[in-house]
Amino acid sequence: MASVTRAVFGELPSGGGTVEKFQLQSDLLRVDIISWGCTITALEVKDRQGRASDVVLGFAELEGYLQKQPYFGAVIGRVANRIAKGTFKVDGKEYHLAINKEPNSLHGGVRGFDKVLWTPRVLSNGVQFSRVSPDGEEGYPGELKVWVTYTLDGGELVVNYRAQASQATPVNLTNHSYFNLAGQGSPNIYDHEVTIEADTYLPVDETLIPIGEVAPVQGTAFDLRKPVELGKHLQDFQLNGFDHNFCLKGSKEKHFCARVHHAASGRVLEVYTTQPGVQFYTGNFLDGTLKGKNGAVYPKHSGFCLETQNWPDAVNQPHFPPVLLRPGEEYDHTTWFKFSVA
Ligand code: BGC
Repeated sequence: MASVTRAVFGELPSGGGTVEKFQLQSDLLRVDIISWGCTITALEVKDRQGRASDVVLGFAELEGYLQKQPYFGAVIGRVANRIAKGTFKVDGKEYHLAINKEPNSLHGGVRGFDKVLWTPRVLSNGVQFSRVSPDGEEGYPGELKVWVTYTLDGGELVVNYRAQASQATPVNLTNHSYFNLAGQGSPNIYDHEVTIEADTYLPVDETLIPIGEVAPVQGTAFDLRKPVELGKHLQDFQLNGFDHNFCLKGSKEKHFCARVHHAASGRVLEVYTTQPGVQFYTGNFLDGTLKGKNGAVYPKHSGFCLETQNWPDAVNQPHFPPVLLRPGEEYDHTTWFKFSVA
């Protein structure tokens, strides 16, 4: 059983509306989600001793979320990750998106789904947000109706994404939470052990666009099929961090994606999804300049993201899983974040 409470979180400037906060609580988890960007602002998880800590990076107040910041906790759309040069063709017609991460379009453009106010609806065990993305928003074709539903089931936070399009459009929705299982504000994630269920990954060019190859992880730094301790692993392979799509094993049904274990606290996060990929991002661009919750600063590698998704730039790479949603079809994906202790 979960309980849901509702409160005002803040007012948007110049009469932009009221942002509300929904608190979902079960006996194992407490999660705060706001109607701005469907953003997870806090997630309290108990450790082995039963002590709760907030394990997601973020801000105490709305102002934090309105400044330039790297998508903390938000839902990303219309298309998560990068589209090369912000350009693609659908049925022979060329579209141009806003270029917000030179030379590409990243995470939906200048004003993506993370930077809009959604309409909330309280459920018995969660909250559903909806909105209509207008035809041409950020350059995307057609109108898109979208529903994002968060529900709590014991130690599991379930996120369901549904969408319907009036014209064929690429759609790829994810959540961009940054986790630190030692508790947000801890300086790094080096003592986290990570497993990702992927035999292949997508190598990228210098602008982080997949070069098209679906490369085996075998014998590379990307082989995370058995747990690796992150800090040691990055050092061993002289890696600046991960910011890559891992190609998941498994079909459109629910499948295992990743497991992260923080031995010191005992906290475990397991991710399951219906999506074909996951962007494993180790907060390489965090630089300690943001003022987070409880006086936290967020240096490089102080959080990790597991963004379940379709493969980046799929709209331009025909051998990647299909990303177009056509009128009459329904986009329907779910990701499960399951917390436990071990
Ligand atoms: C991307 C990174 C980006 C980050 C936040 C991740 O999904 O892959 O390259 O910097 O989001 O901005």
